[in-house]
Amino acid sequence: MRNTIPEAGPLFVRDRAMQPPAYTPWYKTSVLRAPTRALLSLEGTRSEITGPVFGHNMLHELDNDLIHNYAKPGESAIGPRILVHGRVLDESNRPLPGVLVEFWQANAGGRYRHKKDTYLAAIDPNFGGVGRAITDDDGYYWFKTVQPGPYPWPNGVNDWRPAHIHFSIFGKSFAQRLITQMYFEGDPLIWRCPIVQTIPDKAAIERLVAPLDMNATLPMDMRAYKFDIVLRGRRSTMFENRREGN
Ligand SMILES: [Fe+2]
Repeated sequence: MRNTIPEAGPLFVRDRAMQPPAYTPWYKTSVLRAPTRALLSLEGTRSEITGPVFGHNMLHELDNDLIHNYAKPGESAIGPRILVHGRVLDESNRPLPGVLVEFWQANAGGRYRHKKDTYLAAIDPNFGGVGRAITDDDGYYWFKTVQPGPYPWPNGVNDWRPAHIHFSIFGKSFAQRLITQMYFEGDPLIWRCPIVQTIPDKAAIERLVAPLDMNATLPMDMRAYKFDIVLRGRRSTMFENRREGN
């Protein structure tokens, strides 16, 4: 009997129920952002498919080290040192090499280096908060950073974002870009977050929570969190900019 993995079947059915509805009034931004008319389907253009994207040789050696990529020589960012790592996988658990993974985050106090972020927490002069990596032949990526802090945001009277890292996954053209957020195991703010609460599927939320990975921890240096990113299928990561099935 042939031992082959089916290319289609019940395992790979898309789960349309895991995506947040567009209108979720407890997340106030969604009220104005939600479409009020039927959606139009637009044809992709040739330049979206064939346009130049990024070159692998454009990456700097410190691009996946947020502890140092913005720091003065001999200095480093302040905060709990962590390694974030994982693989980018397709719906059949096959690794995807050559994928550009970009990430951005607040500093250890919960503040972004952005002029519109006026949170009281101090800016760390040695922390920029952005980086990138390209997956290797095994679909593997990793980066070093400091664990971001939670931050308050103007939604309800006392809403806080759980500690999180934003991710962009870039395929072979500009039309192939997926966005999501990673959370940290054990953070009690995850289940109180109005944005997280727009995701109707508990299992989909849990797939956004990176477990502490003591096997990858660097002794006397940094703890590790493991975040695998699955592009499609039953175990797909929830992506903010893609409605399943559309
Ligand atoms: Fe954020």
